[in-house]
Amino acid sequence: MTLLRIRTYPDPVLRVRCEPVAAVDDEVRRLLDDMLETMYAAPGIGLAAPQVGVSRRLVVVDVSEDKNEPLQLVNPEIIWRSDECEVAEEGCLSLPEIYGEVQRARAVRLRYLDREGTLRELEAEGLLARCLQHELDHLDGVLFIDHLTPVRRNLLLRKYRKLQRGQRAKKTEPAGA
Ligand code: NI
Repeated sequence: MTLLRIRTYPDPVLRVRCEPVAAVDDEVRRLLDDMLETMYAAPGIGLAAPQVGVSRRLVVVDVSEDKNEPLQLVNPEIIWRSDECEVAEEGCLSLPEIYGEVQRARAVRLRYLDREGTLRELEAEGLLARCLQHELDHLDGVLFIDHLTPVRRNLLLRKYRKLQRGQRAKKTEPAGA
């Protein structure tokens, strides 16, 4: 398995609407496995293909404490969402170090293909439902900051740019100086 490079905002690949996967073959399975490994290493609880530069409808998720309940979803689609909503703080591997409160449906039902290409349904609530909605947004080029008020979004993005500038400065410091 290979660790993939995680793309960060404002990489334009994060804004592309992803294409459905035509066939679940070995290449797709390899990509799903690499995405899962990349997600665990980050560490994160979810990762969508555009976050590793691939504009295809693939998502991996694991919200379990022991990191032993991986989900690998091909062409996932939300087919039902609860009227009841919840607000909670979210972050994103593509927007490191910033967090914002996002309103999401409390529960969702999904239809997807598993890694064997079998059509499945999944009902989720709480953190898993939130994580799935966040990752599925990525497939349509939507980021969690898009759900915030413009004022809150601009505040967070200013903080983000400042943090990114700080990171770059650190990286270019001469070694051992
Ligand atoms: Ni994300």
